[in-house]
Amino acid sequence: MKLCMIGTGYVGLVSGVCFADLGNEVICVDKDKNKIDKLKKSIIPIYEPGLDELVKKNYKAGRLKFSTNLVESVQKSKIIFICVGTPTLRNKYEADLSQVFSAAKEISKNINSFKIIINKSTVPVMTGDLVEKIMSKNVKKSLFTIVSNPEFLREGDAIRDFIYPDRIVIGTSDRKANKLLRNLYLPLISKGAKYISTSRRAAELIKYASNAFLATKITFINELANLCEKLKINVEDVSIGMGTDKRIGGRFLRAGPAYGGSCFPKDTRAIVDTANKSKVSLSVIKTVINSNDNRSGILLKRVKKILNNKIKNKNITFLGVTFKANTDDMRESACLKMIPYLNKKGAKIRYYDPTGEKKEFIKFKNVQYKNTIKDACELSDLVIVHTEWNEFKLIDLKKIIKKKSFSVYDMRNIYSPEKMKKQNIKYFGVGR
Ligand code: UDX
Repeated sequence: MKLCMIGTGYVGLVSGVCFADLGNEVICVDKDKNKIDKLKKSIIPIYEPGLDELVKKNYKAGRLKFSTNLVESVQKSKIIFICVGTPTLRNKYEADLSQVFSAAKEISKNINSFKIIINKSTVPVMTGDLVEKIMSKNVKKSLFTIVSNPEFLREGDAIRDFIYPDRIVIGTSDRKANKLLRNLYLPLISKGAKYISTSRRAAELIKYASNAFLATKITFINELANLCEKLKINVEDVSIGMGTDKRIGGRFLRAGPAYGGSCFPKDTRAIVDTANKSKVSLSVIKTVINSNDNRSGILLKRVKKILNNKIKNKNITFLGVTFKANTDDMRESACLKMIPYLNKKGAKIRYYDPTGEKKEFIKFKNVQYKNTIKDACELSDLVIVHTEWNEFKLIDLKKIIKKKSFSVYDMRNIYSPEKMKKQNIKYFGVGR
């Protein structure tokens, strides 16, 4: 099938490349010429394990193309995926849909035959209706149909999540489009993915509801972790004990820092905004947002306690600063609150991240990037494990750190407290 992906961010690029790998002809379009030129040379703008090999392979095979020419790409394709960003509007809860609307407008001016236009960007309920309206201004209704097909890809696991999804959600009342899309996804359905056909509005809501529910699970276990710390209970026992109940499920019950990333914070805010506009209060999700906003403050209090309230001139090392492991994405990372706070209180921060230095910290005088774990840790009074990269799991801190006495605050519970105790390391985990 001939597909066009508008937007080569996470969703558009990963989905486009994976569709090409399934044998489709795919054109990935972006306004950013620099990005497209780089992609043509297989230089990938994001860190995503396995993506560069897939781009190279499919580009070489001629199934995958990159272009800045939206008009030509739309005209050559039967199925158009809108995969542009929908960030939160400044100082608001509402999603900014300007990129979706401008893509729809451009498509509408250039349609030469029947097209299936699919919204893959995360958009509030009824955006499909608005896109249909925009399209109708320039195109006859018989020449297009608007479908919602949300993505559920996790950064760092995006290719695996694309190939082996739990479900594929298609929101449309158009039978022909539904049949065609079922065929497009057939290779994944035959490997076990459930194909869920719904109304367009339901598909839009499924995406927000899923992310809000996962964010709720994490917040739930994070709050229980606070209680576990007081009562000397290991939160991981609680997660396992709860999670083995199939009605609850064990995934997304890992306590840690505030959840971050490009989806959970933005989508929880947007679903609350959508509900507010319909005069419905989503009180559980509002509480989740609030609790998550307060989480960094709670973890920072513990840092202060670990350092006996003496932060000034202390050497603090952060291992990993992105919002989670296996990504280079800093969006809404808990570190963006914690590092500036500790820096302001006079700490000397060194950090190491497998994906390199971050522009967000360049302006801080006492925040330094180090190229190796050893360089980042050797002078440390306190090592904070902020993300769960595999390469942090087996390091021998006793060997690396020159100080006689130092502490470890393991915000992802990657180390064994017993082993740490044996090594005489002052060790603190989350909820244990
Ligand atoms: C998420 C959704 O999982 C995906 O389905 C959606 O389409 C996009 O948003 P992503 O943002 O890549 O994916 O990250 P995810 O792995 O879901 O983690 C989000 C945040 O929750 C991270 O900060 C992570 O560290 C945190 N998290 C996750 C926990 O703290 N505990 C957990 O058990 C799981």
